[in-house]
Amino acid sequence: MSNYEKEINRRRTFAIISHPDAGKTTLTEKFLLYGGAINLAGSVKGKATARHAVSDWMEIEKERGISVTSSVLQFEYGGFCINILDTPGHQDFSEDTYRTLMAADSAVMVIDASKGVEAQTRKLFKVCVMRKIPIFTFINKLDRDANDTFELLDEIEKELGIATCPVNWPIGSGKGFKGVYDRDRHCVITYSDTEKGTKEGESTEIPMDDRQALLSAIGEEAVGVLNDEIELLDGASAEFDLDLIRAGELTPVFFGSALTNFGVEFFLQHFLKMTTTPLPRKADKGLIDPVENEFSAFVFKIQANMNKAHRDRIAFMRICSGKYESSMEVKHVQGGKVMRLSQPQQIMASERKILEEAYAGDIIGVFDPGIFSIGDTLCMPKEQFQYEGIPTFAPEHFARVRQMDTMKRKQFVKGITQIAQEGAIQIFQEYNTGMEEIIVGVVGVLQFDVLKYRLENEYNVEIKLEPLPYEHIRWIENKDIDLAKLVGTSDMKKIKDLKGNPLLLFVNAWSVGMTLDRNEGLILAEFGRD
Ligand code: G4P
Repeated sequence: MSNYEKEINRRRTFAIISHPDAGKTTLTEKFLLYGGAINLAGSVKGKATARHAVSDWMEIEKERGISVTSSVLQFEYGGFCINILDTPGHQDFSEDTYRTLMAADSAVMVIDASKGVEAQTRKLFKVCVMRKIPIFTFINKLDRDANDTFELLDEIEKELGIATCPVNWPIGSGKGFKGVYDRDRHCVITYSDTEKGTKEGESTEIPMDDRQALLSAIGEEAVGVLNDEIELLDGASAEFDLDLIRAGELTPVFFGSALTNFGVEFFLQHFLKMTTTPLPRKADKGLIDPVENEFSAFVFKIQANMNKAHRDRIAFMRICSGKYESSMEVKHVQGGKVMRLSQPQQIMASERKILEEAYAGDIIGVFDPGIFSIGDTLCMPKEQFQYEGIPTFAPEHFARVRQMDTMKRKQFVKGITQIAQEGAIQIFQEYNTGMEEIIVGVVGVLQFDVLKYRLENEYNVEIKLEPLPYEHIRWIENKDIDLAKLVGTSDMKKIKDLKGNPLLLFVNAWSVGMTLDRNEGLILAEFGRD
């Protein structure tokens, strides 16, 4: 195998999804710890400092102490080169959070053992399913009182519709947490408190048939419960099947406690064995193979104002095939131009490192003078193909935009259209009028503030946002529909996007169902595709 092939094959690119506070940041820090990228002291820094370190690119971020951008981390572990894509949560949940998943080959789903499946996990999970990417589950915080293990698995299966296969099994939880049972090796790995991960764990491995050692390590009661649960589990749970895992139909489940480092390395080692090398990606001329094909990439995110002094934009791209070398010429397919990428860099938390080379699976950020759009393809100058577009994800909050100074109409339309093109917000119009009435839709409410702030600071335009009660948006898949004749519920609103595609807004899910009932043959989609 050539060095080039080896480099690609050792890459693993995944996103971490979870509901806020499930432990995504802590788990990521522990991955970095095992990868040697940070030391123990670094792993215990408070959340506030960690968050602050990620980015202070925008004033708004500084004011609120949260990060609007999703960051990419790269580290080495056991010969693998790992790219982690963080999916921001809290109020900074936005369409970018969804788009990040378009650049990952698999997803790690972190669940709080005392909470189970929560809203944000559910939303992000839908996108993973749409892409059929493998999903690995880490059930966290076993050092705290947890829900019943069988119930947790049941909830994942019922709520998310994916079969589960536990790789290990927890023995108790909270104060009674004794460790996990490794189903493959038939042994118990004991838990020892590492004082929030500040010291090395002292876990021991005890084979199940060494009854004496087991009894003295976890006690008679725990041994009894464990034996019963293993019996139940072996009879009830889905069998381990790597093909189903890679097809995104079965999720391996791991239990642990990120805070105390327990089960993190176990997870990392198994995950790296099960997950894939960079996957081929669909383009208009067929599948593009990461190794066989020369350099190609697609833009999945555009970040404006990374540096306020320069008003710059960074386009984040995922390399899908081949090798990128700085100074090489590439073709921007949508722009029809051959060019050199400007200041290609790897964005690592707040650090930016200029890149010499990067391989399929890696994420790079390049300076964008305003030429790139989300979904754009880059390839070798002699090639000509386009990657499948990135869908538009459904906004969940809507507002009518009122412009305060009507004299500045031109700037207003230019500003709002540009911001929409970057993908931070979506704008719509009444279906039978022009730009007089603008409705803005966002995935996370913070984007409303970002819009207001940016229009004021970059375009000198003041706006007022009037919240609208809609919560559901649907794209109409029927190409020949006559919107005027469509019969909906009284609270339904007919709108169109910038490209003139018809859409419907609803206040609740009931109205969506009613409208489908009233219009035979109507097909409504939750994702928009061009
Ligand atoms: P997030 O990125 O998913 O939002 O979660 P994050 O890692 O920031 O963790 C949220 C809180 O849960 C943090 O506590 C963190 O220390 C705690 N936590 C994470 N993993 C575990 C675990 O395995 N066990 C226990 N007991 N707690 C865990 P915090 O008090 O909000 O922040 P901090 O001040 O401790 O940093």
